[in-house]
Amino acid sequence: MDLFELLHKDDLSKEEIIFLLNLSTKEDISYLYTRADEVRQICCGDEVHLRGIIEISNYCDQDCFYCGLRESNFNLPRYRMTPEEVIATAKTITNLGIFTIVLQSGEDHVFDTDLIAYIIYSIKQETPAAITLSLGERGFDEYRTWKIAGADRYLLKHETANPKLYGVYHNKQKLSDRITHLKFLKTIGYQIGSGNMVGLPMQTVEDIADDILLCKQLDLDMAAFGPFIPSPNTPYQNKKSGTVELTLKTMAVARLVLQNVHIPATTALATLDVDGRIKGLNSGANIVMPDFTPSPYREQYQIYPDRRCMTDEPQNCRSCLQLQIESIGRRISTSRGDSLKLTPKEIINWSFK
Ligand code: 5AD
Repeated sequence: MDLFELLHKDDLSKEEIIFLLNLSTKEDISYLYTRADEVRQICCGDEVHLRGIIEISNYCDQDCFYCGLRESNFNLPRYRMTPEEVIATAKTITNLGIFTIVLQSGEDHVFDTDLIAYIIYSIKQETPAAITLSLGERGFDEYRTWKIAGADRYLLKHETANPKLYGVYHNKQKLSDRITHLKFLKTIGYQIGSGNMVGLPMQTVEDIADDILLCKQLDLDMAAFGPFIPSPNTPYQNKKSGTVELTLKTMAVARLVLQNVHIPATTALATLDVDGRIKGLNSGANIVMPDFTPSPYREQYQIYPDRRCMTDEPQNCRSCLQLQIESIGRRISTSRGDSLKLTPKEIINWSFK
């Protein structure tokens, strides 16, 4: 089978995915990106959805080897936003015409069931935005309470589909637990997001193929693939970053395999390459997730160093993204950008929830 046929084939096998991830000539790689862009156009259209991130706390009970927020990083000043600050930031985001709010934090149980429920309920009362939670592995009862309070989506990256590597990277956690949590979240009605990091220490291209296939098996609504960036004061501080090229290839192959899912051009990709967002949007992505965490907190949310757009003001950030997105003939969506897998009837029901 030649490359053209492969790029147009349904149901790529693991071997075929690996073959595509290993493409090495400029010409072949550019065919892959072009086909991914085509499939993105067919499945998602030309609208780019913005998700406004608020990093509500950088405390974390976990000790992941790659992450700057890990519990044993004592060099990082820790913060928690107040509920009032979070709600005010959510309003700023919706006033910019962005209708998804992502509440993100380390695994911080001081933000307990009730406090998070209060924040969700308040934002839902005061704005028309969808709410995505990205708070790590929490209790099943908490997920349920937050759904009732009004949360719409949950983002919980699987990071790697290789159970051995998962065990190495995450001191206290297991891959099978993470998958159970994702399945539970889906069962109780969340739109779910997951994904990996590309270029983690010891990771192989076979592992990345498994990541993409796991995303398919989980029937995700959103799948994120971002490069690993070594973070100071972590066990992996001296490891190499993932590459922009392998990240873009992963996103492109994921678009071919997963088709009608949301795929973001991540901030980590933009951190490694000034044009990372545009390159991502041209290789299968249809989402951008700008950070609206107010200063001085934003500087302290150091998952990895030198994050892109660290000092942008909200209004500037919005106009800068608009310029970039329109420069490639795309436009910013004015909708919430719900799952591409919902039927029209489900969308109508959803908007009344
Ligand atoms: N480089 C890139 N991404 C990282 N994350 C955590 N640490 C790093 C890093 N060093 C990502 C993970 C995690 C999310 C909070 O940030 O995917 O799920």
